Amino acid sequence: MDAKSRIKLMQTARWVGFNRAQLAVDELERRYHYPSCARMLCMLLYGDSGMGKTMILEKMGGQHPSSYEERRGITLRPVVSVQMPPSPDERRFYTRMLEVLGAPYSIRDQIGALEGRALDLLKKIGTKLLFIDDAFRAFIVAYGKLLPLRKASCFGEPAMIQALIKHSSGVTGRVTWLLGRAAERAIEDGREQIIETDIERVSERLRIAAA
Ligand SMILES: Nc1ncnc2c1ncn2[C@@H]1O[C@H](COP(=O)(O)OP(=O)(O)OP(=O)(O)O)[C@@H](O)[C@H]1O
Ligand SMILES: [Mg+2]
Repeated sequence: MDAKSRIKLMQTARWVGFNRAQLAVDELERRYHYPSCARMLCMLLYGDSGMGKTMILEKMGGQHPSSYEERRGITLRPVVSVQMPPSPDERRFYTRMLEVLGAPYSIRDQIGALEGRALDLLKKIGTKLLFIDDAFRAFIVAYGKLLPLRKASCFGEPAMIQALIKHSSGVTGRVTWLLGRAAERAIEDGREQIIETDIERVSERLRIAAA
């Protein structure tokens, strides 16, 4: 292989089936073949940033690629992956899903209509696995690692994520502000770590200052 092809190969993501990752893929594969029922099983993939969650989803996508069905003139998509918007409200979730599916919508559409259209489409294109990839959490964990605190904080914990969503409405600038202020306080009082109640306290102070 020449140098150019080898460099190209280096730049392309390749799958390495290490233990945990392969376990997740095997479990997802098992669920993929489950018969349909009213309430399908869910699975939460939990791990620090960079641990390979998105890679697992991409691997599943690669194993079940889209295909064009000539007879009905539609593209079947057995696996669909939706990047969760920073502020995960229902409207944004369904509009993001419709964008991924390439379906039109209007900002005036009611949530119920958006939901109905998204679910209809998923059925029509034969989707068996729907991945919701949570970028908000990934951002918080990555940003948390940049804070110069001496002790580790649980930035990826559900309680922390919920506190940050609640007090920032998912606005990135507010998230970084809240984390920055909480980190300052943690350094000043020597605790050197942030917990969810710190986020609440910092946010409360901001509200008092703004009043
Ligand atoms: N199984 C794997 N095989 C090969 N490379 C991998 C694997 N898992 C992870 N990597 C490498 O690690 C990088 C980060 O993985 P990935 O983006 O999937 O992490 P993540 O868990 O989704 O992180 P985040 O929470 O920040 O979204 C990938 O771009 C890839 O280069
Ligand atoms: Mg990811």
